Amino acid sequence: MSTGQSATGRNTGRVVWFTGLSGAGKSTLASALHDRLSAQGEAVELLDGDAVRENLSKGLGFSRQDRDTNVRRIAFVAGLLARHGVTVLVSAISPYRDTRDEVLAGFGHSTEVFVDAPLEVVTERDVKGLYVRAIAGEIAHFTGVSDPYEAPLSPDLHLRTDQKSIDACLNELLAHLGVRDVVNA
Ligand code: ADX
Repeated sequence: MSTGQSATGRNTGRVVWFTGLSGAGKSTLASALHDRLSAQGEAVELLDGDAVRENLSKGLGFSRQDRDTNVRRIAFVAGLLARHGVTVLVSAISPYRDTRDEVLAGFGHSTEVFVDAPLEVVTERDVKGLYVRAIAGEIAHFTGVSDPYEAPLSPDLHLRTDQKSIDACLNELLAHLGVRDVVNA
């Protein structure tokens, strides 16, 4: 933008951290937000757990230690990017509260978004077909089934994707982040 400011009217980067069960809608929301900010000329990067696990975190599993390592790696990269003015959107289950709190505390500006849908709903959606396999015992340590998910106690934003449409959730997110409407930008 000619003013040198971002679509959110700031001069520095921030991290928007989406946490929640697999299938809750984290990546869908993060990706929609990415497209929206990008269209407004904002420097924005998306760090998605699935993609990170194919490169930066390749070889890591789903033990607590490996998940924490994954989360800390993502946070490290997010911090570097944010320092250079990029808005970083992180989409990762990041199931452990302590680890999330620790990495979020390390950012200058951060927004924790709890993307929430009950286990019955994400199991029913089963977008990747993983819940049916986890319930059958074919995938060990599956979040929500045979591994814990510690919900945020006081997220900056709590979005119930089983109660609202993705568009409604996105609008709530944009309002929370103070993103100007494209026509008014
Ligand atoms: S995290 O716990 O380390 O934050 P991350 O978000 O990177 O997880 O990766 C989760 C993705 O890995 C899920 O969306 C799913 O596609 C896949 N996955 C494979 N095995 C598991 C498992 N045991 N628990 C959760 N997700 C799994």
